[in-house]
Amino acid sequence: MTVTKKTLNTQIQPEDHSNQPIGIFDSGLGGLSILKCIKEQLPNEQLIYIADSLYAPYGDKSDDEIIERVNVIADALIKKGCKAIVIACNTATVIAIDQLRLRVSIPIIGVEPAIKPAVALSKNIAILTTQATAKNKRFLALVDKHKSDSNVHIQPCPGLVELIENNQLHSIKFEHLLKGYLLEVLKENIDTIVLGCTHYPFFSDKIKHLVDNQITIMETALPVTEQLKRQLIQHQLIANTHCFSNKQLQYQFFSSQANSELISIMSTLLNTPVKLSPF
Ligand code: DGL
Repeated sequence: MTVTKKTLNTQIQPEDHSNQPIGIFDSGLGGLSILKCIKEQLPNEQLIYIADSLYAPYGDKSDDEIIERVNVIADALIKKGCKAIVIACNTATVIAIDQLRLRVSIPIIGVEPAIKPAVALSKNIAILTTQATAKNKRFLALVDKHKSDSNVHIQPCPGLVELIENNQLHSIKFEHLLKGYLLEVLKENIDTIVLGCTHYPFFSDKIKHLVDNQITIMETALPVTEQLKRQLIQHQLIANTHCFSNKQLQYQFFSSQANSELISIMSTLLNTPVKLSPF
């Protein structure tokens, strides 16, 4: 009789997290400009979006308050099983990304204004930002690092985020405030505007309408999505199958202030009905 010796495969297979969701968050609605691009470029991915509407805007909060909110939201996304997190907010990125990367082990992707590509195109650039971003050391160091011999004008734009959050994007008040900031920018003779807040792409058409059409507007949604994709590939986390026939399961939305008005603004900005749950 021959005895076949069976051996046990003792090698532990790494767990496959590739079909877990990606978490995306912002102080409110701005990050939807990033979510839209991720949805288009990575159609197999499941996305969970958190709008921290109760605490918006972040732009006039202290660093400590913003760090606390970022940690609360990141922990909630990790609890929901997220394999990676996109901080779809320039303000939260410059203030809180470094400490978050030290705290958690999943890939964290941040949003930074497109200064480097703007400098490659132009010598006269304006960056529109929130108050908190405009005075942040990490942001100022980034400008210094990339500006080379370009003239870079940083324009804080307080008030714009609040108005978008309050459904007043198309109000006279909004237009008046925006015009004031653009007048400051135009005094500097600039030809390129970098949008340094994820809420701002929602009014890039208004900017184009108010300034000379020759001005180039630079956004960050695509570079952020490409960076996310690179990180997912590097960590073998790209979703390999399209397993969602139900869009409401594939794209889930939460807010710290979920109400019917927010649902209606979100649905308008995304051009599709949104189901919003409390966070
Ligand atoms: N979308 C956020 C950003 O990119 C807005 C910050 C805020 O809430 O003021 O900075």
